[in-house]
Amino acid sequence: MNAEDVMDAIAKQEWLNAAGDKIQPAILNAYKAGGEAGQKIKNFLHGTWLGHPLHPVITDVPVGSWTAAAVLDGMELLGKKKYKAGADAAIAIGLFGAAGAAVSGMTDWTGTTKKKRAIGLMHGLMNISATALYATSYYMRKQKDSRKTAIGLAMLGYGITSVAAYLGGHLIYNEQVGVDHTATSVEYPKEFTAVLPEAELADNSMKKGKAGEIDILLARKNGEIFALANTCSHLGGPLCDGDLLDDCSVRCPWHHSVFSLKDGSVIDGPATEPQPKFETRINNGQIEVRLIKNDKQ
Ligand code: FES
Repeated sequence: MNAEDVMDAIAKQEWLNAAGDKIQPAILNAYKAGGEAGQKIKNFLHGTWLGHPLHPVITDVPVGSWTAAAVLDGMELLGKKKYKAGADAAIAIGLFGAAGAAVSGMTDWTGTTKKKRAIGLMHGLMNISATALYATSYYMRKQKDSRKTAIGLAMLGYGITSVAAYLGGHLIYNEQVGVDHTATSVEYPKEFTAVLPEAELADNSMKKGKAGEIDILLARKNGEIFALANTCSHLGGPLCDGDLLDDCSVRCPWHHSVFSLKDGSVIDGPATEPQPKFETRINNGQIEVRLIKNDKQ
């Protein structure tokens, strides 16, 4: 059985899928109930303000702290008592980091489906279990005569959080959660390239055009024509099937990220990376586009 078989087995767990069906809408509804403030908190936890997912930044805190604690605990077990206080402090810091990692990860998880969602939920449940073990370990470290059990619980937590970290890595590197789906190896047009006859794009509508192999979202709003990469930076959804909004933005049909048509910036997550934006012009009845210089290509 290889790693992919294990991931497939996780994805087939009915109890995980049933739990996902209940938990995911509950979290999304809680953010929705918070109105504008709820959306702002959600955007913050996704990392929309950072231009990068926040979750992997925060996870370094518990992983790093608990690794340090494992080493210091090991030294203590070898008889070097002076490392005791350092191990306890590292566990406490890790617990703070784990709380931040949990809320940001849970928020990102709301933008996943199917296999990604099942693996993401397993990743989260394992990390919650590890955090509970560390919290218990921390409590026991402050009691008399339970030091060795406390260290044992921390070691068990470390094993569980390591497997959870592996699942998190699989979500990024294999399932491409949290990567920029517009960072394609295909070149965006740097010179003006015809993508659609102008007559085919009615006012206040959107349509997909093609520049070579690249899908381009074309939108005409109050007579002005805008163009963005059509593939959503979040998980690759087709923006042309989304909604054209009154404030000159587009909402992705898959997980409802909103991008400005004016500059491609993210207005609402889960996306954290902006859409490549193109300059437009009409030439011989054709809409032509070229990439506005950005750091993607
Ligand atoms: S693919 Fe998820 S918001 Fe677009």
